[in-house]
Amino acid sequence: MSEPKSRVNVNGIITPPEKAKISVFDRGFLYGDSVYEVTQTYDGVPFLLEEHLDRLWFSAEQLDMHISIERWALKKQIALTLKELDVPSAYIRIIVSRGEGNLGLDPNLGGRHNLVIITKDLPPYPKTLYSHGVHVIIAETLRNSAGSLDPNIKSGNYLNNVMAYSEAKKRGAYDSVMLNREGKVTECTTSNIWMVKDGLLRTPPLSSGLLSGITRRHLISLCKQHQVNFNETEINPEELMQADEIFITSTTRKLLPITRLNENSVGTGRPGAMTKQLIQLYEIHVTEQHKKDQQDWKKILETL
Ligand code: PDD
Repeated sequence: MSEPKSRVNVNGIITPPEKAKISVFDRGFLYGDSVYEVTQTYDGVPFLLEEHLDRLWFSAEQLDMHISIERWALKKQIALTLKELDVPSAYIRIIVSRGEGNLGLDPNLGGRHNLVIITKDLPPYPKTLYSHGVHVIIAETLRNSAGSLDPNIKSGNYLNNVMAYSEAKKRGAYDSVMLNREGKVTECTTSNIWMVKDGLLRTPPLSSGLLSGITRRHLISLCKQHQVNFNETEINPEELMQADEIFITSTTRKLLPITRLNENSVGTGRPGAMTKQLIQLYEIHVTEQHKKDQQDWKKILETL
């Protein structure tokens, strides 16, 4: 299969991916000393960009990292990169590292940040993934505790998740669910997790140690608007094993059903009724949100 079309912006220089280079002294490369965000476009317009940028700045602040580019200028760089890419549905990854300098952990060695924007064509996920659902396992690797590296900071240090993902691959699964030190469910390696039991929808609270996913936030407010029977409470792995339905959420995958957990089927082994309803509800929400995003994006495009 050929690589998807891609354009990369490194500190304002836009090139095809093979020409995009960064220093070996970049602290993102050396120490995972970076923050990042992922979103996508619909009809060329980035989805919920403002919220992703809010979270980028939040993550940087938590790490005492200064992002020296202004927000409007970053948006302009995203727009310029997308213009070069020129596809309706694009994946966008925005990475800000603490810059480059002499070797050493001292954050002050970094100087000015490096800004990288990776964009690529994002074809739709295979429909069968959604109609059949996916298999996840409960990983042995625990989620970092908030006291070591807070999972609510979207940093470029993903080794914890890489190890858990690798366990899933070894066991032939799509992904891993990660537990915290108290043995409670947190999230999957790049998505939040939800379960349904006897008509009650549940997702772990942020206090379990997980990323405050933007899809998660939007789905929670949709549940409130539509009086869905929902709560945020700690989840034990045993409860997850007994769930009638499970699904995960992330920006690019939206809601994806999980139909197998470890060696067992989840519920009937097919995506459940509540999951399907929520998928529909979220699709409508995406369409409405896209209209709002279009208005904002028009203003950015006018500045190019
Ligand atoms: N991942 N939890 C983790 C650990 C994540 O990395 C992500 C996103 C999420 C879902 O967040 P959101 O709904 O804001 O996309 C939860 C992105 C998609 C990634 O790494 O590609």
